[in-house]
Amino acid sequence: MTIDIQTIAVVGAGAMGRGIAQIAAQAGVRVRLYDTNADAVTAARESLRQLWEKLSQKGKLSAEQAEAALARVIPASSLQDLTDVQLVVEAIVERLDIKRDLFAQLEGIVSTDCILASNTSSLSITAIAAACKHPQRVAGFHFFNPVALMKVVEVIDGLRSAPEAGDALAALARRMGHTPVRAKDMPGFIVNHAGRGMNTEGLRVAQENVASFAQIDAIMREQAGFRMGPFELMDLTALDVSHPVMESIYQQFYDEPRFRPSPITTVRLAGGLIGRKTGEGFYAYPDGQKQVLAESPVPAAQAGLSVWISPAHTDGQARARALLQTLNANIVDTAEPPADALIIVTPLGEDVSTSVFQQQLDAARTVGLDTLHPLQADKRRTLMLSPATQANWRDAAHALLASDGAPVSVIQDSPGFVAQRIVACIVNIASDIAQQRIATPQDIDRAVTLGLGYPAGPLAMGDALGSERILEILRNMQRVTGDMRYRPSLWLQRRVQLGLPLLTVPASR
Ligand SMILES: NC(=O)c1ccc[n+]([C@@H]2O[C@H](COP(=O)([O-])OP(=O)(O)OC[C@H]3O[C@@H](n4cnc5c(N)ncnc54)[C@H](O)[C@@H]3O)[C@@H](O)[C@H]2O)c1
Repeated sequence: MTIDIQTIAVVGAGAMGRGIAQIAAQAGVRVRLYDTNADAVTAARESLRQLWEKLSQKGKLSAEQAEAALARVIPASSLQDLTDVQLVVEAIVERLDIKRDLFAQLEGIVSTDCILASNTSSLSITAIAAACKHPQRVAGFHFFNPVALMKVVEVIDGLRSAPEAGDALAALARRMGHTPVRAKDMPGFIVNHAGRGMNTEGLRVAQENVASFAQIDAIMREQAGFRMGPFELMDLTALDVSHPVMESIYQQFYDEPRFRPSPITTVRLAGGLIGRKTGEGFYAYPDGQKQVLAESPVPAAQAGLSVWISPAHTDGQARARALLQTLNANIVDTAEPPADALIIVTPLGEDVSTSVFQQQLDAARTVGLDTLHPLQADKRRTLMLSPATQANWRDAAHALLASDGAPVSVIQDSPGFVAQRIVACIVNIASDIAQQRIATPQDIDRAVTLGLGYPAGPLAMGDALGSERILEILRNMQRVTGDMRYRPSLWLQRRVQLGLPLLTVPASR
């Protein structure tokens, strides 16, 4: 099997093929570029010429380097021109029959040790390789769009792939300045599998009428620290892309409840509310700018307010108490809440109604505070109401929690607020990817940070927030909702039971 790759072919000169040709040529690799549509090859080469010219004007490449890079991209007029390549990267239309046909044809042209790689996002590498005489030379090489900026690539081992094929792809990826992550041939590989948590749980929260799309996004950004919330993200990728992916991964895992899509996106897609590119998605984009309604103003503070914090969750009580002390609140430390005090509960994975019922509290005066993430003044805080919370107590709590200038989201009852449940789903799905040995814990975290732009890898995030708290959130969500969607992954459960970090691999492996 060839290890040191000098000449490759890229088949398919569309968005992805063009990007792969770019980073390969920049790394000194010769690229034969082929497409059934010869104009696509000409257009790709012309766009690369312009790109490198721009980079050389900006001083990022010398004029000689730009010229040499372009000279390394050699148009091929037929598949027969690819006899001398050591690797073919296929980036054609996403159809199994067409890819299989191409791979079978390529086997009759290239040398026996040439690696055949597919950039497929959703097809099985094993299924593509099944049409080949030498399936051991076939592997996945899954780049993300735009290729040059998304610095991660999934190297996928099919059931019959030789490990050396993947090793050679990983080495080439590093030479091209990308981080390779290694994945088993399972639906969604790593990134599209790990990415299920954010969108599908965001949609469930919205479907339960817990909060508006904009509120959910603001909480995920300003409380949980993500760059974008689920609805901003879906508007960017557009529902004509993300809805079919949600359905496909759900079906490929045989109706796994963790991936269950939502009819919200079915209806919106059918109605043409597709996203930013059509001018309207979850948000409207008049003049290309996202339109967000102003948040409701902070109510006036209630003079003489006293606050009782439920001791049911020791840790949450301590966090709420530390915050209220900085806000100079009048905290009452009696065993039972006095008759005239605001009652704050700090549940993990439970709603306010369940807390009220279990602790026999006065529902009219009880609100929930999410204490999973830090409560400092530059972070958003989430205040949750039960259907029985009265408006004057809601306003008193809102004014108090916003009194140091922190933004506050007031949401309706939800098992796990907003951030708790979305983050717990993200950590749980990543844990299960590790449990299924689709990738190493380190590669899962690398793939998600680079491929999805999360502030940390999901397993590191679970460790930082406390895996025992994530487990408690999931168990309570499952109990309150009765939904198997929230059942904790065995990876998570065992590591909490044994006091091990989520990022650890079993010693016996
Ligand atoms: N666009 C993305 O965001 C993205 C990301 C990751 C992976 N992918 C995958 O990469 C592949 C290509 O996607 P794209 O977005 O670049 O598509 P694209 O439509 O931009 O380009 C595909 C190109 O392949 C050519 N082509 C079609 N059939 C061919 C054949 N039999 N032989 C040679 N050329 C052929 C077409 O003429 C076209 O130029 C797909 O498998 C897709 O799933 C896409």
